[in-house]
Amino acid sequence: MCGIIGYIGKKNALPILLDGLRQLEYRGYDSAGICLAKDASLKIVKRSGKIKDLINAIKNRKDLGQANLGIGHSRWATHGAPTNINAHPHTDCSNGIAVVHNGIIENFVEIKERLIREGHKFTSETDSEVIAHLIEEYYTGDLEKAVLKAIKYLKGSFAIGIVSSNEPDKLIAARKESPLVVGVGKDENFIASDIPAILRYTKKVIYVDDGEIVVLKKDSIKVLDSNGKVIKKRVDTIKWNISSAQKSGFTHFMLKEIHEQPRVLSQIISSRIKGSSAIELDGINLSGAAIKRISNIIILACGTAYHAGLVGKYLIERFTKIPVAVDVSSEFRYRKPIIRKNTVVIAISQSGETADTLAAVKEAKSRGATVISICNVVGSSLARVSDGILYTYAGPEIGVASTKAYTAQLAMLYLLSFYIAEKKGLLRKRVKRFLIKEFKSLPEILQEILKKKEGIKKLAGKHLNFGSFLYLGRNLNFPTALEGALKLKEISYIPAEGYPAGEMKHGPIALIDEYRAVVCIAPDSAIYEKMVSNIQEICARMGKVIIVATEGDKEIRRFTGEIIYVPKTDELFSPIVSVVPLQLLAYYIAVKKCCDVDQPRNLAKSVTVE
Ligand code: AGP
Repeated sequence: MCGIIGYIGKKNALPILLDGLRQLEYRGYDSAGICLAKDASLKIVKRSGKIKDLINAIKNRKDLGQANLGIGHSRWATHGAPTNINAHPHTDCSNGIAVVHNGIIENFVEIKERLIREGHKFTSETDSEVIAHLIEEYYTGDLEKAVLKAIKYLKGSFAIGIVSSNEPDKLIAARKESPLVVGVGKDENFIASDIPAILRYTKKVIYVDDGEIVVLKKDSIKVLDSNGKVIKKRVDTIKWNISSAQKSGFTHFMLKEIHEQPRVLSQIISSRIKGSSAIELDGINLSGAAIKRISNIIILACGTAYHAGLVGKYLIERFTKIPVAVDVSSEFRYRKPIIRKNTVVIAISQSGETADTLAAVKEAKSRGATVISICNVVGSSLARVSDGILYTYAGPEIGVASTKAYTAQLAMLYLLSFYIAEKKGLLRKRVKRFLIKEFKSLPEILQEILKKKEGIKKLAGKHLNFGSFLYLGRNLNFPTALEGALKLKEISYIPAEGYPAGEMKHGPIALIDEYRAVVCIAPDSAIYEKMVSNIQEICARMGKVIIVATEGDKEIRRFTGEIIYVPKTDELFSPIVSVVPLQLLAYYIAVKKCCDVDQPRNLAKSVTVE
């Protein structure tokens, strides 16, 4: 929920820290701060508000000058309100050690009480401040030793950056469950929560694993395991560039990412389908024999990823005949779940850092499940704890509202369903060829929908002032209804709920009147007539309908509804096709309501705390 950055090297640290924090702001943005180590002292500036508020505060500080070592932090408050005092970095009693922290220290109260008894003075309400005092408690002239000892007492999750005025030639970092990468430069090195923060300076990164500590000097990198033993780590090269993490001319990251969906799908097709129709899922790490033994599948995820999982259930059961349960991670983890022999868990997470999904996966593994994850962030915590990993390679998704990651997750679930069915001998060649042909037409279809965005923008303008929205869909598009509602509510703050259309008579129909907008997902399908009946019932009660329908459907015009036509495709693929108009509808309504589309209030891109 926060972003950390650190620099040590030949350049002036301050601009690099601020640039990094701008790239990390999507991770949490209610306060921010920096610390520079120079002239045997630590200079700290921290403010509640956004990065721009911190920059304004720094402009007034003439004493900062040049420094070659520093750390920075962009915060999403968990413990303690977003105030100047609670902003990071936090220091020890002597102001000689400064720490930035992403994560949650679950046992911070007992540590704080112990340290207060030992004479430490605290200034903030945060959990993170205990880290600085704990390092101070064990500091006897060797910072890395003190850090090694201190982190053994920490329960919970952390990615921390530490500097000390006593050792101004060192930048130390450590991680447990929160993401942390090292950027490897020439006469300079970096730490960051996420790659976009350092990509402008280096494409060479080291992914830090749980329990590891890194000791960076400007010309050296040392990685220690939890016993303090030096270990060797691979240096990876990032393949995408900084512009991928920029808006590339779009007003918002969200709009850019909606428009990236055709390219993302094309990339998945080209990297996962070889020749005419051979599906390659490298990383799945499941043999044909193991696939044949699968007794049941449990899909775990949160939010949008959970909606993808609901579509996955329809697909996997239809093609593989394996029973699938889909669970919200935060429920699963506390339910004492039943994991049968040969249970496979599919965890879905864009960030790979969602605390509930990580915890649910660990719970499932502890009960004997094999875990395959669908994830967008290479080297993320989820990737590391999974038995098999299917990366979506959708590139960084900066907008808090997930869009391209969702359709990429769906694409992976289609391919996974076909792959498992084929390994089980349940997918006839002719059927597979048809499915792959339809699948390969999706990028073009999405491109066609994006060309209609002006019409959707107009439609958004007409529905701006509805007090609430109801989204209805059936079968494969019930999850689409949930996802459309989530998009709208999280960026426009308009109450919206998704419902299976067949449930109308079991309650929601009582809500229908002329003040409520009802979005009906009614593409050509076997249950089209059922959706038409629902639309009739809504119109009969003066409800205002917006209908997603298939091009050429003239019948649907008889309803006084606004219609968004999507190109014809096999109904199997309508979840990918029908969601794009709903993403655009939510986006344009939020923009017209002047909402902070990329950084909606109270939310963060990666929910790394419970
Ligand atoms: C989706 O638009 C939301 N930002 C949120 O529901 C998100 O999908 C959820 O927090 C899961 O995130 P993950 O995919 O990174 O695990």
